[in-house]
Amino acid sequence: MKKVVVLGHGTVGSGVVELVERNKEYLMDKYQQEFAITGILVRNLEKHLGKGKDHLLTDSFENLLEQKPDIAVEVMGGIQPARTYVKTLLDLGVSVVTANKDLIAEHGLELLQAAQAGGAVLHFEASVGGGIPVIKPFRESLKGNRIRSIIGIMNGTTNFILSKMYDEDLSYGESLRLAQDAGFAEADPTSDVKGYDAARKLAILSSIAFDKAISWQHMGCEGVQDVQPFDVANARAVHCKIKLLAIALRSGHNIHCSVRPALVDKHSFLGHIDGENNAIEIEGDAVGKVMFTGAGAGKLPTASAVYGDLLDVLSEKANGILPLNSDVDYQLIPYYNAPTQWLVRLRVNHIQDTVDLILSSFSDHSLQLHHLNSKDNLFFLVDTEDERQLLQKLAPLQGSSSVEELRHFLIYR
Ligand SMILES: NC(=O)c1ccc[n+]([C@@H]2O[C@H](COP(=O)([O-])OP(=O)(O)OC[C@H]3O[C@@H](n4cnc5c(N)ncnc54)[C@H](OP(=O)(O)O)[C@@H]3O)[C@@H](O)[C@H]2O)c1
Repeated sequence: MKKVVVLGHGTVGSGVVELVERNKEYLMDKYQQEFAITGILVRNLEKHLGKGKDHLLTDSFENLLEQKPDIAVEVMGGIQPARTYVKTLLDLGVSVVTANKDLIAEHGLELLQAAQAGGAVLHFEASVGGGIPVIKPFRESLKGNRIRSIIGIMNGTTNFILSKMYDEDLSYGESLRLAQDAGFAEADPTSDVKGYDAARKLAILSSIAFDKAISWQHMGCEGVQDVQPFDVANARAVHCKIKLLAIALRSGHNIHCSVRPALVDKHSFLGHIDGENNAIEIEGDAVGKVMFTGAGAGKLPTASAVYGDLLDVLSEKANGILPLNSDVDYQLIPYYNAPTQWLVRLRVNHIQDTVDLILSSFSDHSLQLHHLNSKDNLFFLVDTEDERQLLQKLAPLQGSSSVEELRHFLIYR
């Protein structure tokens, strides 16, 4: 019997407890093993009393330690006190399963080192993509590959918002309110809508994929809060949808990582990922492109990934992977480093001057110019070698008095 303590009894914690109870017999039949939940840590004891778990609840971490657990599940969220608790557990040789992307993105290396030193293991499948298995495939099935790219929709809240803007012609504010009413966005949605949540997940995945510690603070990160209804209309006009893409791309010794609203072909696989769903496409040099998709959050989907990690602890699988030795010679570059098409959108006060400027700046490129509705919304499509070339060509427009605002969107087909 393995004694399991659960730190947190909110959305995910209650799902983990439910799944452990649900699978009790199955685990015994199949593995002759048993997980016994011996303690649940919460912050506000009163809130949880009288719901059938009173004998397990505590608001004291020290009480949990006194149980001498074999495994701890950390599903409290946030950095502190989660970091201290997880470190203490690992130092004591207690294996930890966590769903906490903030903690892993910020302190994953330190905690994995603590796990190694303490003779414990640390697994964190649910920290990226909720119920979607994506970290474990890197650790197991994709090991024979050099990873070229990771491109994904990694945040359900923003995907829900952008889907509402596209499907129902709503503004960003209206869509955000709907997401909050439906429980897909928190009261303070900053981390989701500004792209930080997706950036943390991308940092975890790309650190694993490229064997280099990549910090989310060092990547370009644009959220969805400035996406306008006419951006959605522009995307529709060229048979695309806007999605918040998390992108990691390796080319030689350069790695580009960014989170940004981008256009995806509405008929492509990513173009069909709507609402709160997530999808992650990984390209390896041997396997080609593989896609992982499903529920990126939610009580039981996330608990499903946590439970899988618990079984890995049982079967004594090795530690979760992050590059403990991170002196790989890669350079993180700020611009998208592959040939692609862009949509450039401008708000202008003088159309003819702007068009002349666009044509002269891009004289050696073929352009598709579009002019929808009004002078407020001029856009064109252009192919470039990479984003740096695009930015060089856009520089004269940025400096022109006839251009009031300019924004470019990557098009991923
Ligand atoms: N929700 C999802 O779908 C999802 C998906 C993937 C990953 N995750 C990750 O899973 C983790 C948990 O998310 P969640 O949605 O389950 O959060 P949640 O519903 O807010 O639950 C958090 C739980 O942790 C407890 N807690 C928080 N701070 C504590 C403290 N200082 N001491 C003791 N207990 C404390 C809370 O206690 P009280 O109830 O007493 O306040 C609550 O029971 C987060 O890291 C999140 O990023 C969540």
